Amino acid sequence: MKVINTIEETRSIISRWRSEGLSVGLVPTMGFLHDGHKSLISRAVKENDRVVVSIFVNPIQFGKNEDLSVYPKDMEKDFELCKSAGADFIFNPESEEMYYSDFSTFVDAGDVAKELCGKSRPVHFRGVCTVVTKLLNIVKPDRVYFGQKDAQQLAIVKRMVRDLSVDVEVIGCPIIREEDGLAKSSRNVYLSPDERKAAVILNKALSRGKELVDGGEKRSSKIIRAVSDIISTEKLARIDYVDVVSFPQIQHIETINCQALVAVAVYIGKTRLIDNFITE
Ligand code: PAJ
Repeated sequence: MKVINTIEETRSIISRWRSEGLSVGLVPTMGFLHDGHKSLISRAVKENDRVVVSIFVNPIQFGKNEDLSVYPKDMEKDFELCKSAGADFIFNPESEEMYYSDFSTFVDAGDVAKELCGKSRPVHFRGVCTVVTKLLNIVKPDRVYFGQKDAQQLAIVKRMVRDLSVDVEVIGCPIIREEDGLAKSSRNVYLSPDERKAAVILNKALSRGKELVDGGEKRSSKIIRAVSDIISTEKLARIDYVDVVSFPQIQHIETINCQALVAVAVYIGKTRLIDNFITE
């Protein structure tokens, strides 16, 4: 297992693998890896002959007042996690390797990127689509792996790959959680001990929402109200959004009569956390 910093070296290894007839899986990440990322890497290792993990904190998907400059980092730990999960190499470029100083071409996902996180993070998905397109062009994998933790991102990437005829299979993987239900996230490290306790409210509220859906509730307004009410009981929590949207179209729906995504974004102190469930 090694770390590669350049596009050129990555391409040369991949083309050697290709000439040997090996299949390739890609797991795009921003590093500070945890068991959620590991589950994606392990799945990729099962389904492909070779696996590349990219670690790149992509500047163009962060808004001006977001956490780009303080995004957590631990390359040694990431290296060990990738190695133990069976990855073949980490692609870890500098920002200058990915973006020329006069870089000017972006991939825009359209309406699917306008709801949920797209409302409070207007440049986010344009940045995600652009970097994922670049990573797919560099690695040219057979399969690329994304977590349902970022369900809107998963839907957007699937749509982009379909719309732009990219020759790759996009695989969605389930959310990995801490024992108390909090979805694992690199950003959980920002939470103080009190905030960490408070953060379980996202999963608690969504579990109630799921109970309602499983009990036959189809009105989004009822689900949104019940989930919001529970989050509001936590004084360290401030709701960014609670919404019910069609999946994978990501459009607000009043009534659940198709597959739906129930999603929340909540500030716990200064840290913005997201979580969701998808109806059957
Ligand atoms: P990052 O937040 O590092 O996440 C990388 C991948 O891990 C994403 O597909 C995400 O959904 C998945 N993931 C994170 N937490 C998870 C959990 N608890 N369970 C399952 N999967 C989880 O998402 C990004 O990076 C970036 O936007 C990226 C796609 C790399 C583009 O820059």
